[in-house]
Amino acid sequence: MAEIFESPPTQEGHYKPLGRAKLLDHDERSIRMGVSSATVEVTALAPDLFRVGMFPEGRPPDYASEAIEKEDWEPVAVEMSGEEEISLSTEAATAHISLGSLRISFFDPSGRVFAADDEELGMGVVELPEADVFSAPSGSPVRLYKRREEGERYFGCGERTSGLDKTGSHQVFWNVDPPSGHTASFNNIYSSIPFTLSLAGGRAHGLFFDNTHRVDFDLAKADEDRAYYGAEGGNVVYYVFCGPTPKDVLDRYTELTGRTPMPPMWSLGNQQCRYSYIDEDEVRKVARNFRERDIPCDTLYLDIDYMDGYRVFTWNGESFPDPERLMAELKGQGFNVVTIVDPGVKIDLNYPVYVEGRERDLYCKTVEGEEFHNVVWPGMCAFPDFTNPETREWWGENLRALVDEGVAGIWCDMNEPSLFVPRQSTMPGDVVHPGGPEDEPKYHAQIHNTYGSLMARSVREGLLRLRSDERPFVITRAGYAGLQRHALQWTGDNSSWWEHIWMSMPQLQNLGLSGVAWAGVDIGGFFDDCNGELLARFTEFGVFQPFCRNHSMKETIHQEPWVFGEPYESVCRKMIKLRQRLLPYFYALFEECHRTGAPILRPLLFEYPEDETTYNADDEFLLGSALLVAPITRPGIEHRHVYLPQGTWFHYWTGGRFDGPAHVLAHAPLGEPALYVRANTAIPMWPEMKHIGERPTDPLTLLLYPAEGAGESVLYEDAGNGFGYERGEYARRRVTCRASEAGISVSLKEQEGSFVPERSSVYLEFRGISARPQNVSVNGEEADWRYEEGRLVVALAESAGETRVEVRV
Ligand code: GLC
Repeated sequence: MAEIFESPPTQEGHYKPLGRAKLLDHDERSIRMGVSSATVEVTALAPDLFRVGMFPEGRPPDYASEAIEKEDWEPVAVEMSGEEEISLSTEAATAHISLGSLRISFFDPSGRVFAADDEELGMGVVELPEADVFSAPSGSPVRLYKRREEGERYFGCGERTSGLDKTGSHQVFWNVDPPSGHTASFNNIYSSIPFTLSLAGGRAHGLFFDNTHRVDFDLAKADEDRAYYGAEGGNVVYYVFCGPTPKDVLDRYTELTGRTPMPPMWSLGNQQCRYSYIDEDEVRKVARNFRERDIPCDTLYLDIDYMDGYRVFTWNGESFPDPERLMAELKGQGFNVVTIVDPGVKIDLNYPVYVEGRERDLYCKTVEGEEFHNVVWPGMCAFPDFTNPETREWWGENLRALVDEGVAGIWCDMNEPSLFVPRQSTMPGDVVHPGGPEDEPKYHAQIHNTYGSLMARSVREGLLRLRSDERPFVITRAGYAGLQRHALQWTGDNSSWWEHIWMSMPQLQNLGLSGVAWAGVDIGGFFDDCNGELLARFTEFGVFQPFCRNHSMKETIHQEPWVFGEPYESVCRKMIKLRQRLLPYFYALFEECHRTGAPILRPLLFEYPEDETTYNADDEFLLGSALLVAPITRPGIEHRHVYLPQGTWFHYWTGGRFDGPAHVLAHAPLGEPALYVRANTAIPMWPEMKHIGERPTDPLTLLLYPAEGAGESVLYEDAGNGFGYERGEYARRRVTCRASEAGISVSLKEQEGSFVPERSSVYLEFRGISARPQNVSVNGEEADWRYEEGRLVVALAESAGETRVEVRV
């Protein structure tokens, strides 16, 4: 299945596993061993997180990496025992180290073994016949072989367009801009996250192989009983997450590599893009259409044509004569503007940005020490060396004018980096990143996969310096593990094809399982011409993405929501309004993700790891744990199969009840995509608005489908921007719902945090109530309620205290 682009070939060589190890020393949490000329270290960072490092040829242990955010771990109680067979035990797991021929494996207290070295091949180095400096700029290739446990299935691997289950596949990690877009048969595309989440017997563990060279994994393809994790150079550094649930794995993984920041609320609304809205009149016209047609929209994009000859940080003075006025005008109508910024800096001695970067020596170099040049949109360009902290600061400072003019966020593109000679290639491995005064220069081959992350980082840090009281909004196309702490990832150039609706689902779920929860694909598809039905169905899917943006390529048919007329415009309006009403639900999921790393758009297996039917359920997904979405991915049909996992589910449009696990045939005519709500779980919804902030969120509706049993959900609110929430200015409330034959009890628990939402009432809206209730009370008093055709609405006064609602049926 793998089409692999522009990655250096795997070097041929002789693999040599490490032999007998000698214990060198240990401290409270780690042990160090010598194996021929290499050092191996095993460290317990947390009770359920171990790190292993193998440093060939006596290099000192070094774990610094662009992926890693947390370096100082709290003390952890570790017991060490044994001499030949050494155990390093925490309360949650044991690393077992066999010195004879060095093998490392992991156990949990129940005796489950996971991430065990392959007995025969273990970990080691590939000895190259002739080590030439450019094919192996940082030593020989390294490999790690792990045994595949019985029934073990592999998931994750970051941005992958084909299904969820990666067992039996070969995965390449090397960022590329695939020429003419991608299909489901592609392997590596724009970002690289060398991380697997494994499930065996319903229990999870994770393995993060932290190496920024070209990496490849063989996940039981060549041999069904083993997996290998290999890199073209560098050290073996890997982290084992002991689980045992996918939630536990993601929680630790994102503690290690960083969490998704809280987004500015405006960025969760609907967004509209096009390559390009060519001048300010066209932008105004698009804005007017959204408002006049009553289609919610919060953000408009300016693609590369806003610039002067594609020079970054400039404006085309003819088509955008007064950007500040334009942005103020749009702001007045409730629109935010995001501009694209590419890394290529046009070589032009009359262009101050280029000249300054050159004078300050901030660009990548050839081995001969000249500036490295290649062609991108502006023609011949130089490329910032983002490994250098000074470059990152300079780049961030260059955003000042855009920020002063009122730009709300920055879209980082082409940062694999993508080059045009040859077409959509990337930097040769021997390009030099000189780094800062403290750094050793690096060859591109050593850090390739981090270029996109480092660019996004410089933009986020720059925005934070320039506007310290606002949450930065940064998009990136490329990146490495940990990119989630700098930016959201949009998945590049898809196409206006039906297959791409399907493909988006595994792509986003794989990203979510790899720490990148804030992500989205171009709604409607980027390349090729869209049509009404495709746009409507794409939008039915797209509004449930964490990032919701319609975008298309120059010279294709426009695909704004109204372009194809009726009935499609009405379908798009209805779906975008549904998203806009669901924003408080999305926001609570973002907060959960920010705290725990739980994906927003998540595969069913994340919630149901013991149910193997979920392992291939890649054409449907959960939004949080309460909504299940199953989009239509073919033209001309109105029905599809849906798998509903354990629990009671209600069909959103008809109120029909289903008890999972069940396979059902959903009727999903245009405008009513298959959408299910979990019983007893409150879904918070705002009133309708054309854009966020148009009016107060009054009333807030909590939508509930009761069924015998109980459920719980969380409502989270704060100012929607700024950092007050870090000082307790938020409002978190648990909502519990219990239903039986006698009635329904709902409790809004006392609010945590000091934020006061601007509204006077909350409505509880129960659906699927078969008869008019006998009595409804709030905190023991007769309530204000109405009942009509299965819908019961109870009005509550907004209050921070506990509110109990009893419905007697
Ligand atoms: C790249 C981006 C695309 C953008 C285009 C022009 O192809 O992926 O989204 O519109 O460049 O900037």
